[in-house]
Amino acid sequence: MKRNCLLLSLIVLAVNLKAQFPAAPQTQRQIIVETENTSLVFSVGKNQKLYQVYLGEKLLNPEDYKTLPNQHEAYIPSGTDNLFEPAIKMLHNDGNPSLELLVADEKVTRDGNLVTTSILLKDPKYPVEVQLNFTAFQKENIIKTWTEIKHQEKNPVILFNFASSMLHVDADKYWLTQFHGDWAKEMRMEESQLTAGIKTIDSKLGTRANMYQTPVFFLAKNKPATENSGEVIAGTLGWTGSFQMLFEIDNEGSLRINSGINPFASEYHLKPNETFVTPEFLFTFSNQGKGQASRNFHRWARNYGIMDGNGTRLSLLNNWEATYFDFDEKKLTDLFGGAKELGVDLFLLDDGWFGNKYPRANDRAGLGDWQETTTKLPHGLGYLVEQAEAKGVKFGIWLEPEMVNPKSELYEKHPDWVLKLPNRSEHYYRNQLVLDLTNPEVQEFVFKLVDDMMTKNPKIAFIKWDCNRMMTNTYSPYLKDKQSHVQIEYVRSFYRVMERLRAKYPTLPIMLCSGGGGRTDYGAMKYFTEFWPSDNTDPYERVFIQWGYSYFFPSITSCNHITSMGKQSIKFKTDVAMMGKMGYDIRVNEMTGDELSFSKQAVQNYNRLKELVWKGDLYRLVSPYEEDRAVLMYANETKDKAILFSYSLHPRAFNQYSDVRLLGLDPNKKYKIVEINKMQGIRSWFPSDGKTFSGDYLIKIGLKLPNNSDLTSAVIEITEVK
Ligand code: GLA
Repeated sequence: MKRNCLLLSLIVLAVNLKAQFPAAPQTQRQIIVETENTSLVFSVGKNQKLYQVYLGEKLLNPEDYKTLPNQHEAYIPSGTDNLFEPAIKMLHNDGNPSLELLVADEKVTRDGNLVTTSILLKDPKYPVEVQLNFTAFQKENIIKTWTEIKHQEKNPVILFNFASSMLHVDADKYWLTQFHGDWAKEMRMEESQLTAGIKTIDSKLGTRANMYQTPVFFLAKNKPATENSGEVIAGTLGWTGSFQMLFEIDNEGSLRINSGINPFASEYHLKPNETFVTPEFLFTFSNQGKGQASRNFHRWARNYGIMDGNGTRLSLLNNWEATYFDFDEKKLTDLFGGAKELGVDLFLLDDGWFGNKYPRANDRAGLGDWQETTTKLPHGLGYLVEQAEAKGVKFGIWLEPEMVNPKSELYEKHPDWVLKLPNRSEHYYRNQLVLDLTNPEVQEFVFKLVDDMMTKNPKIAFIKWDCNRMMTNTYSPYLKDKQSHVQIEYVRSFYRVMERLRAKYPTLPIMLCSGGGGRTDYGAMKYFTEFWPSDNTDPYERVFIQWGYSYFFPSITSCNHITSMGKQSIKFKTDVAMMGKMGYDIRVNEMTGDELSFSKQAVQNYNRLKELVWKGDLYRLVSPYEEDRAVLMYANETKDKAILFSYSLHPRAFNQYSDVRLLGLDPNKKYKIVEINKMQGIRSWFPSDGKTFSGDYLIKIGLKLPNNSDLTSAVIEITEVK
């Protein structure tokens, strides 16, 4: 009896609640954002609100979307009836802390492969406009979304939240894959099931996006996505600063994903008629697991996301790990010879070449004083460029333009050009401070540093642009009473400088580095040709680090250098570097004869096959997270050429590994299998070497790979035979 009463009261309560929260409103019309395979569908309710009704594989019949309910308001404002994390939160001039957003207009523009849909939302009571933009890259199946916020109130409004994107997902369970780490241990992959409430991936570093968390994720529906199966959304934010990706499962088990600039310490005072443009959030949907999602991103990045993505890249020898700060003209010009001998295109001079009052003999002084140290380099950079050319290689240089050592002439001259808190002692990281890039004079200084150097030495063919610290004790002397704008203005200023530089130097290759891999985001990569993944160049570690980046970035962006870190053979080091943009950072004169002749041969192999590595479709076949080995391959679009990399890590004794089935080949073609990069003295057991197989066999049965001893590797060239 008591139980029946309880049940009855629950039913009455539910009915009452339903009355308070009315059923989802009826639809007036739908707005469909779609690529070749994916649809993101909105509907406009009779109440003029915008709802997201669908995100997933494109339906054959668009009429079918009409049967879907208006469950989730698309871009939820704060202050009225929203009880979960909002996409946007604003304080009006009159103290009203709410927004209501109703659809006012929509427009679609087509530009070949790109279709851009803009949906204008307006508040019925306040002069505020929020425009949601979606560019659908048809062939690559990538959707880019960003938001523009504007108002005509009398005085600035305060923005507390300003998501680039809000997405809604409905499933029974949600699995999140994130990538995290620290200096020298970047991109550690971890997958976990989301539980009710909020999970946030974010960073508060200011000058760089990642170090502890990278702004990328996979969200799999219902069960963890594998490499080749499962429904998965892959997302990333194009912002080179503090970011936030927030995943919230509500009371009904629905998930909302808010992505954008981190609202942390960043209330934004938006002036009347100023447009606040959020960074771009990029995502793809795959119903064939993470592999397809990665390939979508790779193709998109080469076509649209990175500087010169379909162009070529220079191979290089860097002197950082070979000399650190300890070099002079003689040592360097000798190294040029090594670069030539290996057969690479360029010599890259790293840190330690500048500063006179405070020479840069270590990382404690000189940063900011960009004049050649005359005791080390008496004839200047021009001489080095000439000498390199005489030896037959190009010359590139390291810069860290946004930073300063307190022990420098720059700091002495401009103590107010530095981000630092008044009334607090300076806080150093790597003995340095961040310049206040929000100050136009500092922007001019950074631009001129590069411009003057390039004007004086037009033959400099490459720049490595570093950024070795995050913001702490953050305070901008320039922004004065707008301190909550520093984090945002810094990144905008960085882009402003890069825009100017790229207008003048559109083709100069520039590697982006951030004390290892701290700036790997598509906001910055528009201006850069490649990035430095990590200061950890031990090839065993690099298998994991490079594997991690491969989920979101094409191999042409990943600078993989062969160095003396790690005790593995030069073959293992080379084979690991070859899976991306290969380079060297090694003392060539200390190589044995066998090592040198192996390396020269490897450079030739690489030059022959690098287009395939850089632009082929990546298939990750065996994950180092699942087995004691890693196997991946790249196949070209016409499926007549492929290259496979197999890395044996620390296998247990007598482990029997199963054959590895290949992907990306044509079952109807025949392929010759040849092991390359063989080294004298390292015996490789590979019975398939030199044999021909049908594509069908390689896909369904696969190859037995030489995976049985510690830290060994094989590179296999796969060529169609007619
Ligand atoms: C950072 C970079 C390194 C190197 C040093 C130079 O740590 O990641 O590759 O350039 O700075 O100081």
